[in-house]
Amino acid sequence: MIENTSDIGLIGLAVMGQNLALNIADHNFGISVYNRTYSKTTDFIDRNQTSTPNLHGFETLESFIDSLKSPKKVVIMVQAGKPTDAVIDSLVHLLDPGDIIIDGGNAKWTDTIAREKNLKDNGLHFIGSGVSGGEEGARFGPSLMPGGSLEAWQAVEPIWNSISAKVDPNTGKPIEGALPGKPIIGGIPCSTYIGENGSGHYVKMVHNGIEYGDMQMICEAYDLMHSILKLSPHEMGVIFDDWNTGELDSFLIEITGDILKQTDPRTRKPFVDIVLDTAGQKGTGKWTSINALDMGVPAPTVAEAVFARCLSAIKEEREVASGILKGPKKSETAINKTDLISAIRDALYCSKICSYAQGFQLMNEAQKEYGWNLKFGEIAKIWRGGCIIRAAFLQKITEAYEKNPELSNLLLDDYFKNCIDKYQSSWRRVISIAVEFGIPVPTFASAISYYDSYRADRLPQNLLQAQRDYFGAHTYERTDETRGKSFHLDWLNPRRPEIKI
Ligand code: 6PG
Repeated sequence: MIENTSDIGLIGLAVMGQNLALNIADHNFGISVYNRTYSKTTDFIDRNQTSTPNLHGFETLESFIDSLKSPKKVVIMVQAGKPTDAVIDSLVHLLDPGDIIIDGGNAKWTDTIAREKNLKDNGLHFIGSGVSGGEEGARFGPSLMPGGSLEAWQAVEPIWNSISAKVDPNTGKPIEGALPGKPIIGGIPCSTYIGENGSGHYVKMVHNGIEYGDMQMICEAYDLMHSILKLSPHEMGVIFDDWNTGELDSFLIEITGDILKQTDPRTRKPFVDIVLDTAGQKGTGKWTSINALDMGVPAPTVAEAVFARCLSAIKEEREVASGILKGPKKSETAINKTDLISAIRDALYCSKICSYAQGFQLMNEAQKEYGWNLKFGEIAKIWRGGCIIRAAFLQKITEAYEKNPELSNLLLDDYFKNCIDKYQSSWRRVISIAVEFGIPVPTFASAISYYDSYRADRLPQNLLQAQRDYFGAHTYERTDETRGKSFHLDWLNPRRPEIKI
């Protein structure tokens, strides 16, 4: 291997790293790879080099770095946190000013901000890039959310745009059908410059928060059909397939249909029935919720989705409680199967709209906090293909922000407003039925409360503020005074005139 000939290097040959490397090689970029354990590198190269001559493996970091063209671009695909820092530390003294490190992991955006700042002090560029789409996406077209300096982005852009998923310019739908060695050529790349420092990883985190919400909402729809209508997994799979042909058309609905129709190869039972009802998480949904709380942005639906996973995880406790705590008596409500299935679909769609409205509000607040200039229409555009939340619905969000880039909440866009007008009676009915039957619907219910709170010109927090003033002298504003003036009532002598603060 001649020195300085590869277009890019990649460190970390776990599944995502391998797939991204093959994707880059398929797009005719020379790529050098390095892994701490060399046998993993040789194994990877042996398996793939005949089909992809653009791949080159290295035993030492030094030779790996020497193999790269300047400015050198190194993608890190290792675990977020300490492992990422360790790799960055080992690279700093090997790179030259102007070289670029790209972190493609699910890093916390605040870490990315700190790393970018440190590396800038060393004359190096740092791009924190969200990479979504799981193994398949990394291999054949992920959605990419890069953040960092514009200069660094311009050097990486040709590679990132080539390897990303593509959508059809006319329909806005993902172009499918990439195969090893046969990538999609043409179409609109699902990759765009997000903004400075940690913005790319921030947007990826919100993507994941939304992903948590979508997944939980789908589970609630499934649970309602399972528990009230007693449908078999296969019957529900067919219903999800049908939903996937309409407004709910999305990757997560599609795979749900597949999962529900799957049979367990060992027992021949429906696959979903043999999976234990406890969900894990790696933390991005939790970060999204913590950040929403930190910034005071109402994003309850993502938080409920995180808590739903937490509740699922305390399986043993739930089993004990199920023998003690009673649910409602058998309901007398007459249920029409076809009507309820259609109402559940409507409820899912309305809840989804609210969840996305919260995610975009969160990003809107974050851009003020961190001085970014996020283009929401562009973000929705690059989520149309490649990523886990890819959906026909994203086209509507793109259109909403193209119509009005300053839109304060998606709910105020005509399309989304009309959808909720059309479906809200079904949405409300489904949640009432769920409560009546004792079936938990945390994200459906939180979404409708969000909707009803957001549209309310009067909320009961007048009473809450009075309580705060009563026990803590926290003051209140008056309805008959201009905003910003604070008052306190002397609650020990409430007849006395209030005190203006
Ligand atoms: C993606 C996904 C991915 C995420 C997994 C697991 O966009 O490809 O969001 O990045 O890590 O979905 O996340 P949890 O383990 O937290 O469910």
